[in-house]
Amino acid sequence: MCGIVGYTGKELALNPVLSGLRKLEYRGYDSAGIALALDSGEKLWVEKRAGKLGNLEEILGTKIPNSHSGIGHTRWATHGGPTDENAHPHLDNEGKLAVIHNGIIENYLELRAQLEKAGHKFKSETDSESVAHLLSDARKKHNGDLAAAMREACQQLRGSFTLLAIHSDEPGRIVGARRNSPLVVGVGDGENFLASDVSAFISHTKRALELGQDEVADITANTIVISNLAGKIQPHNEYEISWDASSAERGGFEHFMLKEIFEQPRAIADTLLGRITGLSEEITNRIDFKEIDKVVIVACGTAFNAGLVGKYAIEKWADIAVDVELASEYRYRDPSVDSRTLLIPISQSGETMDTLMALRYAKDKGAKVFAVCNTNGSTIPRESDAVLYTHAGPEIAVASTKAFETQLVAMYLMGLHLGRIRGTISETLLSQIEAELAELPAKVEQVLETVEPLRELTRNFSTASSMLFLGRHVGFPTALEGALKLKELAYMHAEGFAGGELKHGPIALIESGTPVVAIMPAAGSLLAEKMASNIQEVKARGAVVIAIADSELKAADFLVRIPSTHEFLQPVLAVVPLQVIAYEMAVARGNDVDQPRNLAKSVTVE
Ligand code: AGP
Repeated sequence: MCGIVGYTGKELALNPVLSGLRKLEYRGYDSAGIALALDSGEKLWVEKRAGKLGNLEEILGTKIPNSHSGIGHTRWATHGGPTDENAHPHLDNEGKLAVIHNGIIENYLELRAQLEKAGHKFKSETDSESVAHLLSDARKKHNGDLAAAMREACQQLRGSFTLLAIHSDEPGRIVGARRNSPLVVGVGDGENFLASDVSAFISHTKRALELGQDEVADITANTIVISNLAGKIQPHNEYEISWDASSAERGGFEHFMLKEIFEQPRAIADTLLGRITGLSEEITNRIDFKEIDKVVIVACGTAFNAGLVGKYAIEKWADIAVDVELASEYRYRDPSVDSRTLLIPISQSGETMDTLMALRYAKDKGAKVFAVCNTNGSTIPRESDAVLYTHAGPEIAVASTKAFETQLVAMYLMGLHLGRIRGTISETLLSQIEAELAELPAKVEQVLETVEPLRELTRNFSTASSMLFLGRHVGFPTALEGALKLKELAYMHAEGFAGGELKHGPIALIESGTPVVAIMPAAGSLLAEKMASNIQEVKARGAVVIAIADSELKAADFLVRIPSTHEFLQPVLAVVPLQVIAYEMAVARGNDVDQPRNLAKSVTVE
């Protein structure tokens, strides 16, 4: 996720662009940059720097360029590390056209190859720079019409994008486009805005226009023209923004955590993009996977729970032994590691010291390292042989939600890759899993549409002293994740159990009114019958049971229905109600949802 803003109007553009970026910095802060079209029509004025927006502001000084239109970008790196060269805006070779981008251009490598063949010189490693050169060619083809050029370029792009472009020959004009990535028009008096979300301009105007899928906005200080990619003019759907500035930063949600729970379909879709039928060679060429005879996943907290789910999928699909280790314990037991070991560190931040030290330990002993990480350019990816980046975007809330979901997706993609390499997964199963993976964003969306009653139900348990979570098979790590969420958000005792373990001790915890959340295996499975018996066992001792299930279940006191999917993928759907329960419990208890006590987003100490 990146922050994007464009301004054209009566003010000198630098100020509204900078203030817009300050409001959008929560969307990504690996680098920042601004391009202004000078009123004189000279070459563009461009400044960009790696690091937070403050680094850029430091070099800008107090001189304000004579420009009334420009674009600004604050980056969450996906392709290419957080460097000055990879910072947006990206320019064409003449330095007259600038573009900024949010999203993922899936076919950027083939575009880059054809553009380099046509003589374009690239300066960055990003997918976004391809658009600058593509637009430059298209603009020449359309006699300098930047909007027509944008329409043509977008037809050649695959993936997700929000794009803004300016050209030095047309100061005052900004052209934007979107597909699967947000872009909104701010309608001012003698000025207009384009931005990733309304927080960038809400202090200037509360009038906004929606932009539909594959639509192009062509704006100046006093004109706004919206067209589709065929060039057909589209109607203006103007609306009044009802949020205040601070809630606008959270997309209108009360907390970042709730916003990130609802961003999960997008995060999953972005992480799957272009990878369901196979990982790109830029990843898989770095390790000889045929030499691997053992997999070790190391992680902490929520990432560890994702690894536990990954174990089931990778072992089954790749027919290989998988250990999942708490990173903080791993190296202290002096484990057996060699060059045939594939170590998979999972980390949202890429800076967790326990996980980094486990990585270094195993690498020193010859292991190959294939990391799963959400933060481009962070330490763990830098010290790994290969990285499968998740594309969850910045996760601001300390409690991990969308990062967890994308870590699960990464586990499945790795399991499929190893299965393909080792020839251990049948074509039938491969097609079934690929089809079900593609359905996940929509199915998570479906679950999110039904969570309101669950939020209300949860408040009934806000005074409970503890809550237990039961699961079997991949439902067991899901239960552990549900318990972890509740601990870290509601400061409440919670514990996850394997359903079969209940009778070996934990059932002694059950008393009248104890809330128990049961994650049901896929309907009709042998394990579903066993879990149904577990529900009877706890209910017989007074428990109140909330079941998460893909079918009707009379035994439960409350039922949260989720769509059915392949048994290994079920945690992606079942965890969403658990996140909502933890969120709602924290709110009911008046806790700081986004920054719970005693915790940090990234634990960079051992
Ligand atoms: C998750 O809700 C917690 N914030 C915590 O367990 C986290 O998952 C753990 O610290 C690992 O962080 P990482 O993914 O950045 O390595």
